[in-house]
Amino acid sequence: MTAIHVDRITKRFDPDPGKAPTLGTIDLAIEDGEFVALLGPSGCGKTTLLRMIGGLEQPTSGQVLINGESVSAASKAARRRILASVGFVFQEHNLLPWRSALANVAVPLEVRGMARAERRRVAAEMLALVGLSHAEGKLPHELSGGMRQRVAIARALSYDPDILLMDEPFGAVDAQTRDVLNLELQRIWMRRRKTVVFVTHSVHEAVFLADRVVVMGASPGRVVEDLRITTPRPRSLEATMTPEFLATAATLRDFLSDHFTPQESAT
Ligand SMILES: Nc1ncnc2c1ncn2[C@@H]1O[C@H](COP(=O)(O)OP(=O)(O)OP(=O)(O)O)[C@@H](O)[C@H]1O
Ligand SMILES: [Mg+2]
Repeated sequence: MTAIHVDRITKRFDPDPGKAPTLGTIDLAIEDGEFVALLGPSGCGKTTLLRMIGGLEQPTSGQVLINGESVSAASKAARRRILASVGFVFQEHNLLPWRSALANVAVPLEVRGMARAERRRVAAEMLALVGLSHAEGKLPHELSGGMRQRVAIARALSYDPDILLMDEPFGAVDAQTRDVLNLELQRIWMRRRKTVVFVTHSVHEAVFLADRVVVMGASPGRVVEDLRITTPRPRSLEATMTPEFLATAATLRDFLSDHFTPQESAT
């Protein structure tokens, strides 16, 4: 079944018809349980696309369907219901600084009216899933960047969404931590089988994690390549050194450089 259907959407922020829209026509079907990585130059519209999938932004034309229901055309109440099955992990973790790790993970459960004891139980389980049981009582500033991102992932998983939208969640951590987090995300995905859309600037990360890598070009933002990664899971870090992995990564780097112009790297 198709979990996410980006149905011929366009997005224009600048009304000047002489300028290219931010997103040209994008048509993308993502299957239930699929892990899709989204690669592309800075400013090509990856975050905008993710925000439209998550109902945080309206397309200029076209629509986004989640499990067959249009988010874009839905009423406020219907949208809230549809989006209850969607979790977001932003580039910045957005944790509440005055709340412990456990209390942060419990926020979406509180919003959903879950009883206190049950909330604590689920939040503790989620922190255990991301390997942070020992940090339940810590405040965000007492955690490392990688630990904070793990708390953000635990929070997004807490209400058990079918779909997880992740916008460069590991962009700000060092390479070793990133490897660890990638392995952990793979483990979690294998256990929970969410549909994931994962934005990244790292070709390596995309090939390691995804079933499918979608490459975008800019001006207007559009899909320029859609590549399937068939390496069986679990994938080890050593598997990223095989000729097959390196050849796939090289192909993707070629696509990216074909669609890269220097001014796009300005941000
Ligand atoms: N709310 C907005 N109003 C006006 N323009 C916007 C808005 N949001 C994004 N844009 C523009 O749309 C384009 C795409 O932005 P977006 O953040 O989606 O890019 P991105 O691919 O996520 O880039 P990066 O890799 O740097 O995060 C940019 O030119 C940006 O300036
Ligand atoms: Mg972005």
